[in-house]
Formats: sequence, C-alpha cells, structure tokens
Amino acid sequence: MQIRPFTADDADAVFEVHRRAFDGQTEESRIVQRIHDAEKAVVSLVAVENDRVVGHVLCSPTAVDDHGGNVELVGLGPVGVLPENQHEGVGSSLIQRGIAKCREAGTDAVVVLGDPEYYSRFGFERASEYGLGNEYGADEEFMVAPLREGSVDNVDGIVTFPPEFPSVET
Ligand SMILES: CC(C)(COP(=O)(O)OP(=O)(O)OC[C@H]1O[C@@H](n2cnc3c(N)ncnc32)[C@H](O)[C@@H]1OP(=O)(O)O)[C@@H](O)C(=O)NCCC(=O)NCCS
Repeated sequence: MQIRPFTADDADAVFEVHRRAFDGQTEESRIVQRIHDAEKAVVSLVAVENDRVVGHVLCSPTAVDDHGGNVELVGLGPVGVLPENQHEGVGSSLIQRGIAKCREAGTDAVVVLGDPEYYSRFGFERASEYGLGNEYGADEEFMVAPLREGSVDNVDGIVTFPPEFPSVET
C-alpha cells in the first residue's frame, strides 16, 4: 500500500471511496469535491493498492474566534477507506501521515469530529478541555491534537469549518 498526494485524476475514485465508506451517502464525497474545487485542502492524501485508490484523507483550514494569539488549526476529515480494505491499517496510515503533513505545513493543532476511542490513539484529546468548542454541538466527539507543546493552551473559542462543510442545522 502506497500513500501519496491526491491529484485531479483521483477525483472520481476518491468520490467513490467516500461514497462507499459512508454507506452510499455522498455528503462526505461532496465536501471533499468542494474543498478540492476551492483549492482549500491543506493535506489531501490517497492510499493506493494495486493501482487502485482504496482510501483518502482530507485536511482543511478551520477558524477559531480566538481569545489568544494567532493559531493555525486544521480540521481532519473526511477520512474513508473502501469497505473491503478496512481493518488493514489503511485508515491509521492515512491519519498518521495526514497529521505529519499538517505538522510540516506549520499547523499548530489538528481538530477532528469522530469516535474518541478511534482517534485517541492518534493523540487526539477532548477539545473542550482546551477551551475549544464547535458549531455542531458535539461534546467528546470533538477532539484536538496539539502538534506542539502548549500550542492551544492560550486559545479559547468556537472552531468553525469552512463553508464547503455543511452548515449547522437549526
Ligand atoms: C474509520 C476508517 C477510516 C478506519 O479505516 P481502517 O482502514 O479500517 O482503519 P485501521 O485498519 O487503521 O484501524 C481499524 C481499527 O480502527 C477501529 N475503528 C475503525 N472504524 C471505527 C469506527 N467507526 N469507530 C471506532 N473504531 C473504529 C477499530 O478498532 C479497528 O480495529 P479492528 O480492525 O481490530 O476492528 C474506516 O473504517 C472507514 O472508512 N469508515 C467509514 C467512514 C468513517 O466512519 N470515517 C470516519 C469519520 S470521518
């Protein structure tokens, strides 16, 4: 299995990866498409096995109504792996590589909305303990992985995802 940067030629395969990973729903596929179209991806990586795209991870910029200094926060996700390729470490490799690429890009911390049991293994902790909230009203599912010691210690506020993500339902 090889992990490499997304290219425009991967677009259809990546759409299909997320559609199939998310039980036939295309919401995540369309988020990925919109972020790519807007050229907003901080990190976009595909996992390839036997010349076939089997997984994809996206990282995009988030904003925080910050009560501290400037902080670069990146949102991880969606991440998806084809059902027949799950439980083989592909998702973990994509997430670890994605975080490493964010660090290289100078990101202070990565946030994610997901299962705490899964994401805690990658260094994610409950974001509310760092004073970070989210617009979706998620509690323990909203997590942050500081990429440098103390990088989010002086930041408080609500983290917002780019407009290419679904807006909060009221
Ligand atoms: C989540 C996902 C990307 C993980 O990819 P993967 O290649 O299967 O992950 P890995 O093989 O590295 O790790 C598998 C382990 O992760 C854990 N895991 C996988 N999916 C999980 C989930 N939805 N919730 C909690 N734990 C999960 C399990 O402990 C699993 O261990 P097991 O193989 O012993 O059962 C993949 O399952 C997927 O595409 N799921 C559907 C889409 C999704 O829910 N994406 C995440 C939200 S953005």
